[in-house]
Amino acid sequence: MPRLAEGFVTELKDRIDLHDLVSRYVQLKKSGSSWVGLSPFNKEKTPSFYVHPLKGFFNCFSSGEKGDGITFVQKMENLDFYEAIEYLSREFSIPLRFQEGSSTSEPLGQSMRKELFSLQEIAKAWFSEQMKAEGTESEVARKYWLQERKFNHEVADSFGVGYAPTDRFALGRHLTSKGIVDKLMAKSGLFYDKKNQSDWVSIFCGRLMIPIREKLGRICGFTGRKLSVTPEWGEKKAPKYVNSPETPIFHKGQILFNLDLANKEINESKDFLLVEGQLDSIRCYTEGFKTTVAPQGTAFKESQAELMRKSNPRRVVCLLDGDQAGQKAALSYVPIFLKTGLDARFATLPEGADPDQIVVNQGKEALEKIIEEGEPMVSYVCGKILSKKPSPQEKIKVTDFFFPTFAEMESLVIRDSYLNELADSLIVPAQALKADFQKFNRNRKPAYQQKTTHNPTQKVENKTTERLTTAEDDLLYCLLHDVRLGSSLSQIIDPSWLDTKVTAGRILAKILAEILADGPLESSEMEELLEADSERFVFQNLLFQEPEEESDTTIMDTANHCIAALFAKNSRKSEKTLLSSLQELNHNPSSTTELRAQLKEIRSCRKNPPKIFETELDPKL
Ligand code: CTP
Ligand code: MN
Repeated sequence: MPRLAEGFVTELKDRIDLHDLVSRYVQLKKSGSSWVGLSPFNKEKTPSFYVHPLKGFFNCFSSGEKGDGITFVQKMENLDFYEAIEYLSREFSIPLRFQEGSSTSEPLGQSMRKELFSLQEIAKAWFSEQMKAEGTESEVARKYWLQERKFNHEVADSFGVGYAPTDRFALGRHLTSKGIVDKLMAKSGLFYDKKNQSDWVSIFCGRLMIPIREKLGRICGFTGRKLSVTPEWGEKKAPKYVNSPETPIFHKGQILFNLDLANKEINESKDFLLVEGQLDSIRCYTEGFKTTVAPQGTAFKESQAELMRKSNPRRVVCLLDGDQAGQKAALSYVPIFLKTGLDARFATLPEGADPDQIVVNQGKEALEKIIEEGEPMVSYVCGKILSKKPSPQEKIKVTDFFFPTFAEMESLVIRDSYLNELADSLIVPAQALKADFQKFNRNRKPAYQQKTTHNPTQKVENKTTERLTTAEDDLLYCLLHDVRLGSSLSQIIDPSWLDTKVTAGRILAKILAEILADGPLESSEMEELLEADSERFVFQNLLFQEPEEESDTTIMDTANHCIAALFAKNSRKSEKTLLSSLQELNHNPSSTTELRAQLKEIRSCRKNPPKIFETELDPKL
């Protein structure tokens, strides 16, 4: 991969007007020298998303997200750093510049993820060809699709449905002939680990292949349905569905099947339809239920609900199978919807039926009717737990189900209305239920651990004063807000003091090592040292965090505080090591003298941690 020219990223950021970029996604209104609009990351009624084009950063008070133009598109378009750079360069016609000597003919996007997406596309085309090919195997797949499942060729083409032959080496041969290198094959999720074999063995054999797309419509993986020609797994029966494993582009929890198409239709007056299977989803979509999506199987995660919430639907109607597994799954979905702030309804299908069968056998009107009869969450759960004449114990079962989730809800207004709804369903006075809930909430956790629900501005104050930060986070914050601290810090802080399990600790270790070797750095130069997106996000969050206005403590004070904390932590660690050595050597007094001296030294030093003084600061920066 060619490397970007030094300084290009900074230049790109300088040349892009953040207002132009953000206003493609968010309607912005002028507010002083900044702009404000509704958060694109959170559902909110009062705008608390601020854009500062002159300073080149945004600050979202409702979600706590901060960053520059690059992180903004990364989040909005779900891109990695290099994809975001490419995207901005294309959108704003700012040609990429590369380091001298690195080839410019090769686009930057030969980044791993992009290549993996195109590999999946090549595989899809090949599976489609196989479905149309001559031969008995393909015939089986076609018959299954057309006759057994009652779909047609157009649907297969538009969803890219195909067939993976029983020859386990055929896909590998095809991709290799297309020039795909081993490194990519290994990460594609289409093959077993190569180990010592000479050929790539596909995990999909003799299966109907359904491409899975992420929310922008790029194929990121596949699911393969068993057919009569599917070889069994030795002694074991082959499973009905085989799915791509996790790869750099396929994260199950981040994907909802058909979301790319459903998102084109959804708006605040429409409902998402959540079904269990991919084929249910394809059926519903082609029959006109254009907002149908499916998780991967019955496992439904908060991150997937979050994907739906971002599209701002009126609500979600769940159409889960009438069998026991489907009903059990439904109950597990309720807390997820409540926490995400999505309104949901549950429609119960007749036992043993799924949406696909209902549409095929009874027509889409039958499904429409079931959807209309969907129940709100509270009454649905009550219906599952309570008998006709519910006992007090049954009622407690219901409150036990809801209270922990209610306690985690962001909006007090919404929580209150659920409590009222629940009181109605349980036929108990709302006052009594609310008093019980308050009691539950108080006993839950110590106050400092409880998630607070405040208005947006309060929330941010909370973030700065009560931030769950480590000394590493705070020290990085100080360094980014006063880069003159760099030289002194690099000399004072021993790398072993930093906890590199913490992202900020890793970032600091890199920056301080570079400063020690090469001298002072500007913050943009520090940013260029970062490797992972997680590092970039932490870095920017701290970089764009504004100092507390009314605070008396200076950055220098805070930095010295952090140094003292790191120093103390390290000295306790050394003390512990020494003490255990002493214990081991207890029987040999002569050799302990030296250790005792060291121990004394450590203990006396602890009272005088190293410190930075204003006069030492680098005047050049
Ligand atoms: N599933 C899976 N792995 C399995 C079984 C199921 O990933 N071994 C997922 C699939 O996404 C499947 C969904 O769970 O679509 C629902 O499973 P099931 O009801 O068994 O399948 P259907 O969607 O009804 O599949 P079909 O109509 O093809 O029988
Ligand atoms: Mn089915």
